[in-house]
Amino acid sequence: MTRLDAGFEDRLLAWEPDLHATLQRVYGPGAARDVTDRLVAIVRAAHAARPDDLRELDERRLREADWFQRPSMVGYAAYADRFAGTLHDVGERSSYLRDLGVGYLHLMPLLAPRPGENDGGYAVMDYRSVRPDLGAVDDLRTLTTTLRAEGISLCLDLVLNHVAREHEWAAAARAGDPDRRAYFHVYDDRELPDAYEASLPEVFPDFAPGNFTWDDELAAWVWTTFNDYQWDVNWSNPAVLCEYADIILALANLGVEVFRLDAIAFIWKRLGTTCQNQPEVHELTRALRTVARIAAPAVVFKAEAIVGPADLPAYLGVGDHAGRVSDLAYHNGLMVQIWSMLASGDTRLAAHALQQVPQPPSTTAWATYVRCHDDIGWAISDEDAHAVGIDPYAHRRFLSDWYSGAHPGSWARGLVFQQNEATGDRRISGTLASLAGLEAGDPDAAARILWAHAVILGFGGLPLIWMGDELGLLNDQGWADDPAHAADNRWVHRPMMPWDPASASGAHDDQHGIGAGLRHLLDVRRGLPHLHAASPTEVWDPRDPGVLLVVRRHPLGPLLAASNATGEEAWVAADVLHWLGLHTDGLHDAISESAPELREGAVRLAPYATAWLYDSGAS
Ligand code: GLC
Repeated sequence: MTRLDAGFEDRLLAWEPDLHATLQRVYGPGAARDVTDRLVAIVRAAHAARPDDLRELDERRLREADWFQRPSMVGYAAYADRFAGTLHDVGERSSYLRDLGVGYLHLMPLLAPRPGENDGGYAVMDYRSVRPDLGAVDDLRTLTTTLRAEGISLCLDLVLNHVAREHEWAAAARAGDPDRRAYFHVYDDRELPDAYEASLPEVFPDFAPGNFTWDDELAAWVWTTFNDYQWDVNWSNPAVLCEYADIILALANLGVEVFRLDAIAFIWKRLGTTCQNQPEVHELTRALRTVARIAAPAVVFKAEAIVGPADLPAYLGVGDHAGRVSDLAYHNGLMVQIWSMLASGDTRLAAHALQQVPQPPSTTAWATYVRCHDDIGWAISDEDAHAVGIDPYAHRRFLSDWYSGAHPGSWARGLVFQQNEATGDRRISGTLASLAGLEAGDPDAAARILWAHAVILGFGGLPLIWMGDELGLLNDQGWADDPAHAADNRWVHRPMMPWDPASASGAHDDQHGIGAGLRHLLDVRRGLPHLHAASPTEVWDPRDPGVLLVVRRHPLGPLLAASNATGEEAWVAADVLHWLGLHTDGLHDAISESAPELREGAVRLAPYATAWLYDSGAS
């Protein structure tokens, strides 16, 4: 007995041709019909099994497709166990999230990982069960229902570049199953691996050098971009696409609303390239997105592509892909520039780099963030640095020195992650608070933390708060105590949430005013229609090099987000206000909730202050 609805049949009719055309481009006209038919069968079965409450959600999302773009939307990201404990415990803490205004929760990988080292859960052994210490599949369903009732959408990782060596596909491949062997990139000798290596970068040069691992049981080399226990799956095999389509829809039917496409840049390999950002990556994303659009339209995708600025825009869709790939993508470029601005007190490189990023499609949004569970790598292009007269190599070295605390006068207390001898790159681990000076006792640390949040809240997009940043949590000095973590210092910035049993809400005290300051910014943002993600963002040339100027265009008139990246007072030049038509008596700063201080037509910004300026008379 099938339960298909008219809306479903309409969507299938409308989107099936696009799916077929996409698959033709990836697998060729010969194979595409068969793959399309297989995917349509998966879609039909998944939709038939979709629970009624999620079908209602589908209807609501179709009516309110901009739900994740609204100025009231803010995301939060955490490890379930480090935030609360089990999945049940996360549900118990949902009022904390609701009070913060959170409408989207990304829980770090919680599907069953391999035992022992598992790259923070990114080595998945079974996509259809939950990490046993967190709960079971029923608990996941209960959690999504609880969160949904609080107005919070759950985001889960979809790790689709690789599976754990212990995943049943890999186990079957080792046992000699030729179909499963074809799910992986397997080579009998070094000829092709060596040829690929000639142009491949290394993701973890310290603890996982090289991109291929010899496996005795397989009696072959297998592609392992990340750790040797993470086997890259072979997306040129359409069976792999069908498997993941089925997995996505099964999770969607448990109430997962947002899929974070982990390491999506890496899924297509091409000899002679870096094997990242290949055109097929976007075609395959489009195919999966179309499948979700038909069967579970409430679902949105978020691309995790930590790539250079030139490759980033494609993840939200350029050209024919616009609006048809991911709905959200991490704005890695903005994240890196936030740290660069804070260390140098200079916004010129950031402004230039951000100006090179095209406007994303109006139905999409950047996920803006200050930091996440990963290290920070200095994705600053040589061209952008040269354009503002900076030596790119020296600047990246300066940033690594600054944030590892090695540079004289640095207030940062980070750790070097993955020193690459070949390129000189040194990435950085550390919590926002430790990197911003709180651990070192720098008096401006709290102001920097709020400054960084003001930038991600005012830029345009869906801002994501990393767990503990709202409390100024410092580096976890005991990060290496767990033997499974000891080789990976990213654990330094993944501390436990310090719930305070003495306080009513459980949240610990706010001695630096970070929590109160952040809540204020979130409250103000909620009331500003200019900050809807569909409104275009313009980054203006800085007049005062210390001040980042971001303009949000809106029918109500422009909003100017001016952020002083320095510990000195700075100015928003009068001509900026003139060009924007903001040189009026109605000029208002939404953050200070007052008229800004003017001197000869210029607006004064206190150290590390941000002003969100608009003409209150015009709205
Ligand atoms: C992503 C994750 C990172 C992980 C990698 C491999 O980049 O954020 O933590 O190591 O993918 O899955």
